Amino acid sequence: MNTSIPKENCRYKSGVFQKYAAKSAEGIGGSVFITNSYDETFELGAELGRFLEKGGVVALEGALGAGKTCFCAGICHALGVKEAVTSPSYTIIHEYEGVLPVYHIDAYRLSGAEDFENLGGGEALESGGLSLVEWSERIISSLPPDIVRIKIKITDDGKREITVKGIELA
Ligand SMILES: Nc1ncnc2c1ncn2[C@@H]1O[C@H](COP(=O)(O)OP(=O)(O)OP(=O)(O)O)[C@@H](O)[C@H]1O
Ligand SMILES: [Mg+2]
Repeated sequence: MNTSIPKENCRYKSGVFQKYAAKSAEGIGGSVFITNSYDETFELGAELGRFLEKGGVVALEGALGAGKTCFCAGICHALGVKEAVTSPSYTIIHEYEGVLPVYHIDAYRLSGAEDFENLGGGEALESGGLSLVEWSERIISSLPPDIVRIKIKITDDGKREITVKGIELA
């Protein structure tokens, strides 16, 4: 089944956003996309990466295996990161060198905001690089208010419904 909006009815200029825009996206208060595979989620992340600015924070929510790291890998690709992007579950904060420093943070094993601050999370957020935070709901009180929020839901048929808020996509 083709879940994307026909090109002529789509509000996005970007071919990638058009390709994955969900039919139900209108009126939901965010941009909703549907992807069918790792590669598609990566491609959507890479397209979003082109809209991100220095000092930005991207907060990602979604169940285990939803595709948060996959989406981050796409963003990193767009920012010129050459290193393979893997889950920073054990290191908690991993720094990649792209066109600007990218801090990939996994809050899954953190007990909360205090834990995050003690690990230097605050410095990463304020460094002027770009911060990508998986399991952001665990440390939400440490994040600034004007962040980009990504929610990834695994649908009943195994696709991914990806909602983007806090950024104007074209
Ligand atoms: N549409 C899709 N988008 C992304 N991943 C998909 C999709 N369909 C299936 N997958 C699979 O789901 C998995 C997503 O893994 P990923 O590590 O990105 O998830 P995660 O949300 O970061 O998990 P964790 O909570 O463990 O950090 C991969 O094995 C990938 O192949
Ligand atoms: Mg992950």
